[in-house]
Parts: sequence; structure tokens; C-alpha cells
Amino acid sequence: MKSKVLCVVGARPNFMKIAPILRAMRAPASDVSGVLVHTGQHYDPSMNDQFFEQLSIPRPDVSLNVGSGSHAVQTAEIMSRFEPVLEQLAPDAILVVGDVNSTIACALVAAKKGVRVVHVEAGLRSWDRKMPEEVNRVLTDQISDRLYVTEATAIDNLTREGVDASTIVFAGNVMIDSVDFHRPQAVPGRHSIERARAGLPVSLALGGGEPTYPYGLVTLHRPSNVDNPVVLGSLVELLAELAEQLPLVCPLHPRTLARLESFDLLRFFDGDRLLAMPPQGYLEMLGLMKDATLVATDSGGIQEETTALGIPCLTLRDSTERPITLTHGTNRLVGISANNIRREFISALSAGVGKLSRPEHWDGRAAERIVDDLGRWLKSRPQSNA
Ligand code: UD1
Repeated sequence: MKSKVLCVVGARPNFMKIAPILRAMRAPASDVSGVLVHTGQHYDPSMNDQFFEQLSIPRPDVSLNVGSGSHAVQTAEIMSRFEPVLEQLAPDAILVVGDVNSTIACALVAAKKGVRVVHVEAGLRSWDRKMPEEVNRVLTDQISDRLYVTEATAIDNLTREGVDASTIVFAGNVMIDSVDFHRPQAVPGRHSIERARAGLPVSLALGGGEPTYPYGLVTLHRPSNVDNPVVLGSLVELLAELAEQLPLVCPLHPRTLARLESFDLLRFFDGDRLLAMPPQGYLEMLGLMKDATLVATDSGGIQEETTALGIPCLTLRDSTERPITLTHGTNRLVGISANNIRREFISALSAGVGKLSRPEHWDGRAAERIVDDLGRWLKSRPQSNA
């Protein structure tokens, strides 16, 4: 009989990680049967539904519909709604991905109930405890029973924190499975830009066909960058200045849009050189990244995706939990000082990226390795840890 594994998703960055895992679980040879639980942390169609469609994720078996709230409220709400589901479904293990509030909330419920916790993308550390995701990562790893890592540094981080080395598996990066699988269907960047610009005066030089015209792609949503009016104001002013050299397109996370509105900063987006766009689907985002001259971001996942795609990435943060994107990839950590960003932007425009090699196990087969190992591991330990 197949082992039953309850797979948890909640927020946008979870969807591209769970898609290849569920696909691998559905393969005929798999020893694992997946049941999908969606906490509803992200609920807007633009943050949720279009990802399910584009990534062919099956409709969730259970939806908890928690919605937004403070970290405490959101985490507590997920926990109290997840507990009866866990009791009723009685899985052999739960599988959580990444570092969002849904990850720690469900892991904590399962660990206390003696249900085994499997963490995909374990061991990443920014060493910045002010990031809510860092707290989620450290705590989830401490209560996980099987830990799948994307890069070798994560093994060192975990063993330093006392995690038993025999529970850690270097499986690779499931985000990159999704990049490789969906790349042929990526929507060309110019199509998404033209759609966003529809109705606005077009002054970018639109060529007749592919390849695309040059543009930079910018995403910002970290609370440290968008919640403070002075920080966000100086970043937006700088983007408006840099957009004179290279048009910049900015898909806006709902949090960022709300802050830009309340700080009266939307006026810097002229809809031309500096273009605000709604949150994009997965295939649109993949195309926007693939066709960009460079990317500036504070996202974790985009640092990895640009490394896989070979597109220069400037990360507007002081730390990264994904150091392999710096040592083997296209990423540069540039912080948020205007002078530094300006300098690195110009240098990336002139230098591009050098010769690259994909990090180890970022080969499109991470999910297969995870499901294969998970099936064997669960079979070898049929009893719960309780
Ligand atoms: C969450 C994750 C972060 C991830 C990001 C990607 C945590 C701690 N953080 O941050 O790691 O990089 O998702 O998107 O889990 N909102 C909507 N519609 C939605 C979802 C959110 O309008 O569908 C708004 C709400 O006003 C909400 C705010 O965005 O208060 C923030 O959403 P939340 O899920 O709390 O955290 P994110 O900032 O999205």
C-alpha cells in the first residue's frame, strides 16, 4: 500500500515547489500518495488561482481559507484549522515546503501530534532573525524528521544546529524542476508588458518579432523594503532614475501596491519607462525573467530562478539564505543603499553574466529524488514517531 502524505501549501512561493512533487507522487512507480491541503494564506486569484491552473496543480483536497492577519493571528488560525484535518486524515507524514507561515504552523501541529514532518527546502539561513521567514525556517527544521536540502551549505547549517545528519538528504531544487518543466510554455516578456501597457501611450521601441526589446524586471515585497515610507520612497525614486537607462517593469505584490498607494509613491510610475503591473502568473513571470536584461528583487525564489535561467540578478537585501546563487549563479547582493544599487546596476548592464554552471542537483529531477527517498523512508519506518 502507498504511504499517505499530506502536502501543505499556503502562499504563492509554495505553489511552484509543490507542483513537481505532486506530479512525482502521481507517477505509477511512486510509493507515496499525496493529499493536498491549502491553508488559504494567499487567496487573491492573482496570487493563487492562476498558479494552480498554469502549474497543473490538482484542486486542493482540503481548503482552510485562513486569509490574512498579523503573523500571530494567521499562524494560530492555520494551526487551529489544520489540527482537526490532520486527525481526520491520519497521514503517514506531512510534507511542508519553504518558509512561509503555513509551513511552520502545520509542521508544529503535526510534530505535537506525533505525525512525521518532512521539510522540502530545509537548512537555508539568512542569519537575519528579523525576517519572519528565517524564524519559520529555523523552527520548522528543528521539528522535522526528514529534511531535503537544495544546496550543500544547508547541510552544514543543519548539522551545526544539531540536526541528525542521517535525516538530511541533498535532493536538489524543486523550484528549478518547475522552471525546466514549464520553460517551453513561458509567455514572452514583451507580451505581458504590452498587455500591462494596453491603453497607455507606447513609447518603448517595439521590434517586429522576437527577441524582445530590453527591459529590467523589478519585484519588491519584503516588509523591510516596503513597509517604511523612507526606505520605499528612496527605492522608488532610484528606480525612476535607473529607468532612464533601461525601462523597468514592476509586477506589484498586494502588500507593495497598498504601501505605494498609502505613501503616495505610485506617481513615480509613469506607465512608460517605469511600469507598474499586477501580480503575474507563473508562465508570465517565467517569460518576464527569461527575456529580461537584468532582474532586481528581494524575493528568495527569484534569486534561484534567475541563476537557472542565466539572467543577472541584483538582490536588494543585506543577506541571502541562498548563497549558492552568489558563488555559482548570477546573483549579487547589493543591499538597499542607492549608490550601491546604482553602481551594481550599471556594472550588470555593461558586464552581463560570465560563464555559468548550474548548481549541483538543479537539474529538473529534484522532486523525483524526494518522492523516491520519501517512499523508501516511510516504508522502512511504518510506525509514527509518537
Ligand atoms: C508571504 C511569505 C513570504 C513570501 C510571500 C510571497 C510569510 C511569513 N511570508 O509574505 O515569505 O515571499 O508570501 O508572496 O509567510 N494579500 C492580499 N492577497 C493575497 C495575499 C496577501 O491582498 O492573496 C495582502 C494582505 O493585505 C496581506 C499582505 O498581502 O496582509 C501580506 O500577505 P501575507 O501572506 O501575510 O505575507 P506576504 O507578505 O505575502
